[in-house]
Amino acid sequence: MRSKIVAGNWKMNKNLDETETLLSALSAKLPDTDAEVMVAPTYINLTAAVRNLESSKIEVIAQNMHFAESGAYTGEISADMLLNVGINTAIIGHSERRAYFGETDDILAKKVTTALEKGIRVMFCFGEELEDRKSGNHFKVVEEQLKNALFALDNAAWSNIILAYEPVWAIGTGETASPEQAQEMHAFIRKTIGEAFDSSVANNVSILYGGSVKPGNAEEIFSKPDVDGGLIGGASLVADDFIAIVKAI
Ligand code: PGA
Repeated sequence: MRSKIVAGNWKMNKNLDETETLLSALSAKLPDTDAEVMVAPTYINLTAAVRNLESSKIEVIAQNMHFAESGAYTGEISADMLLNVGINTAIIGHSERRAYFGETDDILAKKVTTALEKGIRVMFCFGEELEDRKSGNHFKVVEEQLKNALFALDNAAWSNIILAYEPVWAIGTGETASPEQAQEMHAFIRKTIGEAFDSSVANNVSILYGGSVKPGNAEEIFSKPDVDGGLIGGASLVADDFIAIVKAI
């Protein structure tokens, strides 16, 4: 079922004390909403975050996970480890993981497979670089990213996939895709999925927009028919800003 979602990706920000403070502020201020609200603190604080939000509607999600079940992967975290501390959703394929940690489409396809096999919902991130957009290649790049990581799935698997379109040029830059650019790409993504799978898969998948979403632009972006919510970086670190974005959905 397609749902509205606002998720905060905290990236490598907030130590334990700061995490507790921000989570308490978020639960205290969370408005009544039909949208799913999620936060992704860093690994080391996931357990504390799950405890802190025990009686809150806010879901704690992971920023990443490894594709192997267990073993000699120093510094990595497995699906079972996430499930064991109460995490049921993981961001996979964030552009920073692709750019700084060498995560290729191949690796991401493996991560998606493992996550789904283990029962972890995937928030799959993808999006073009500035040069792709300038050269008019953005639709092709996005289609390839989706194809390489997700098109081997069967229709049923899609009920555990959330998509997050994040044009790389708009992440952390203050530069946002216009609501029209976001809608144009989201409609393209839905059409592409409809052609590769079927219209029910396409109509039921939530497609979030990410890239410099702020209280001032959230409402207009979220008003577009194929935009089902947002993945928020910088603005998710400030309780009032994140709550204002949740109210905009
Ligand atoms: P931003 O980050 O909101 O700071 O641009 C978005 C993201 O990386 O998910």
